[in-house]
Amino acid sequence: MKKKQISFEIEEYLNIYELNDTDKKLVYEAQEATKSAYAPYSNFQVGAAVLLENGEIVRGNNQENSAYPSGLCAERVALFYANSKFPKVPVKAIAICAFHNKKFTSSPIPPCGSCRQVMLETEMRFDSPIRVIMYGSGKIQAINSIKNLLPLNFTGENLNK
Ligand code: THU
Repeated sequence: MKKKQISFEIEEYLNIYELNDTDKKLVYEAQEATKSAYAPYSNFQVGAAVLLENGEIVRGNNQENSAYPSGLCAERVALFYANSKFPKVPVKAIAICAFHNKKFTSSPIPPCGSCRQVMLETEMRFDSPIRVIMYGSGKIQAINSIKNLLPLNFTGENLNK
């Protein structure tokens, strides 16, 4: 038996002003996206903004449903829309934030497991790493590939082995 360690790098920022201009703009877009979330059940309005290689920014937000599992997270709404509108354009980055109790959360918002899986598919599809910027008013975290958030992942390659 062997034991292995998996480690990855995570960037931490104290506030939005520490971010570079590209990341900052993407976070502002994600914040804007929270305003049109449909979250009457959780009152947790999540916003996501996706930056494409051609410079386009696509926004999404969570869309809830009275039959709870029928709803969808902000990240997947944004990514599916980006991939449906620009099927040949790689995704470079995604920013995520959430508005709750009249303010943005102080902790960064990490994507849920299903959204990580969808981000991974997008990364693999375009063979291009996606930067993930997770915003909180008290701390911002960023990683440079979704593989960092989803190690030991299942991809299309596993279907052929
Ligand atoms: N949600 C997202 O939109 N993204 C996440 O990464 C986590 C959770 C949504 C789903 C649901 O509408 C609400 O937040 C509360 O879980």
